[in-house]
Amino acid sequence: MIDYFGEAVAATYDRNSVERFAPELVESIVAVLAELAGDGRALELGVGTGRIALPLAARGVPVHGIELSAAMVARLRAKPGGAGIGVTLGDFASTNVGADFTLAYLVFNTIMNLTTQDAQVACFRAVAEQLAPGGCFLVEVMVPELRKLPAGQTAVPFGFGPERWAYSDYDPATQSVICHYLDTGRGTHRSVPFRYVWPAELDLMARLAGLELRHRWADWERRPFTGESAQHVSVWAKPDSGDGPRR
Ligand SMILES: C[S@@+](CC[C@H](N)C(=O)[O-])C[C@H]1O[C@@H](n2cnc3c(N)ncnc32)[C@H](O)[C@@H]1O
Repeated sequence: MIDYFGEAVAATYDRNSVERFAPELVESIVAVLAELAGDGRALELGVGTGRIALPLAARGVPVHGIELSAAMVARLRAKPGGAGIGVTLGDFASTNVGADFTLAYLVFNTIMNLTTQDAQVACFRAVAEQLAPGGCFLVEVMVPELRKLPAGQTAVPFGFGPERWAYSDYDPATQSVICHYLDTGRGTHRSVPFRYVWPAELDLMARLAGLELRHRWADWERRPFTGESAQHVSVWAKPDSGDGPRR
């Protein structure tokens, strides 16, 4: 499996994702996750440099992470509180680190890093195995932008600044999208493959794994998801015996 978050990306990840580190956004995310985790443990798939795991742990929720990139984990470890986050290096579609999590979460479009349907299905199955009865799986992911594509075009720009340009190149035939990142200041180009995925397809994957849709919001403020929503925050739950708290 290719690691697209090696040393060069890890070194600039926090700076290049600065809007995702905005304190008010992180606070909203952590509030939702803490409520879902309740008194239990949380599992972050693709924990990265700890953008969410660290503040969630600081709020009192024990967090374990699964992560492919040792370079990203090194950044997490170097931050205050980083030593307190357990991390298993591995592929979150196939790694199992326990079976008692009340919450597993996969944010920032990272489900799309799994570039086949089989891998995305396997991810739901792996999560379901690691959830305690009544536990929840939360996914934050964009809605595929195919409505932005006029006939005959495949590219959607998503980041233009003085030094960084980025665009997505969609292939609806294979449900794949390659994101291109150009750093005009340094004269570099990086491309990363993704598999875009629709909300209804995720619901089916959840169902295959024995999970039930509990919430679908448009954002972390829990606004209703509509046909105009650019992303969704979805929560599926593993059925419990009926006597646990409903999240
Ligand atoms: C966009 S970053 C998100 C990091 C962090 N969750 C955040 O919100 O800032 C995606 C992370 O997922 C990791 N990742 C991607 N695919 C993975 C996989 N199959 N297994 C484990 N980690 C993976 C990447 O190495 C990277 O650190």
